[in-house]
Amino acid sequence: MPLNIEKQMKAQLSEDILNVLKLCSKIADEHNFKIYLIGGIVRDLILKRKSLDIDITVEGDAVKFCHILAEKNCCKILQVQNELKTAKALFDGEIEIDFASTRQEFYPHRGHLPVVVKIGCSLQEDVYRRDFTINSLAMSLNKKDYGDVIDYVGGIKDLSNKKIRVLHDNSFNEDPSRILRALKFAARFNFHRDARTKALQEKYINTQIHNDISWTRIKSELKQCFSLNSAKIYDMFLANDNYKLIYGQKPEIKGLEIKTLVDKYNPYNVWLVYLGTVLTNTQIIEQFCFTRSEKKIFSDIEYLLNNHLSMMNTNYDIYKFFVKKSTESILVYYLLTQRKEALKYLENLSLIRVELNGDEIKAMGIQNGREIGEILDELLKKKLNGTIVKKGDEIKFVKSKIK
Ligand code: CTP
Repeated sequence: MPLNIEKQMKAQLSEDILNVLKLCSKIADEHNFKIYLIGGIVRDLILKRKSLDIDITVEGDAVKFCHILAEKNCCKILQVQNELKTAKALFDGEIEIDFASTRQEFYPHRGHLPVVVKIGCSLQEDVYRRDFTINSLAMSLNKKDYGDVIDYVGGIKDLSNKKIRVLHDNSFNEDPSRILRALKFAARFNFHRDARTKALQEKYINTQIHNDISWTRIKSELKQCFSLNSAKIYDMFLANDNYKLIYGQKPEIKGLEIKTLVDKYNPYNVWLVYLGTVLTNTQIIEQFCFTRSEKKIFSDIEYLLNNHLSMMNTNYDIYKFFVKKSTESILVYYLLTQRKEALKYLENLSLIRVELNGDEIKAMGIQNGREIGEILDELLKKKLNGTIVKKGDEIKFVKSKIK
């Protein structure tokens, strides 16, 4: 008897989502489509966890199925990808569902994106292109076996044994980003890799030349892992030698130290504080296709590490060293060098401002632009060393200059 999880669906999914799934089920039956919930959502239903995305696989042509739904005013199609025959649809103005056609994939080059060899294959053929057994479960949405879990690879058993297991020996060669996916799932569910998966991963990391990989996927998985702000993921990333995947360096830093700083200083790109402590190879950084603001964080880190802050420094020196540098880069600098000045800047010096502006100084009678700049700089020095605090004293200082 297959495992049936209709009860779990009722317990975990909203009434609205359940109604949308029933609607898809009805239309699929009427038009002879076999459709399934697939991947993460089935895993999460069995684990009784909240799932983020709803993915439906159509055995056949998912785009055709979506058009039928749209013609019957059941949904609005948001996106269609005709090559892969996938579509995104919106139900009731708020429920988004991704529809994919069953497909078989082939990896012509190790680590690169796969090419599709067959669309509309059997569910079983579709399942074998996936990463881990726990992500290869499908749940029927057709009326006759609604809620039945189809498990071709032993995923249910692995879920109960808390095991992360690849489907075949070539899995990491095909897609090394799966190494990071394993890390993400291990941390999220407190699961462990089975012995074979662990050995295959170690073999890939330690013996393969792996610079010809899809950096886009690697970046996406690193972002997901480190955005969790989890000390455990970072510690596992280092302990499992995952940093070698990105030609990183292994710093003597504990995840908890990073997490504590991130919680205190709230940088926008949390994930780059974790990654920045490891990723120093400029050639690899270029491969990552970082956005402009992400690139700035890495160039700031490079600047801070290569331009030494003197040991005998004033508040003004510290301010000048860190000003205009991203919070992320300053935190990475602190983590790698333990220079306390970095925290002094973030906590205290970065908040200090000269209140007068150039126009106000001009109005007080100083016309020369260079002179105004020098006065502003002197004011900044005095504010940083505490000899001037209030705006009134700034004005007094400028007046003294005019005399
Ligand atoms: N998948 C894969 N290999 C990858 C990425 C994804 O085989 N490198 C498959 C898995 O079967 C996965 C599905 O595609 O379940 C959907 O991928 P994704 O949405 O990234 O993962 P989820 O398992 O849904 O995980 P999450 O809960 O983090 O969204």
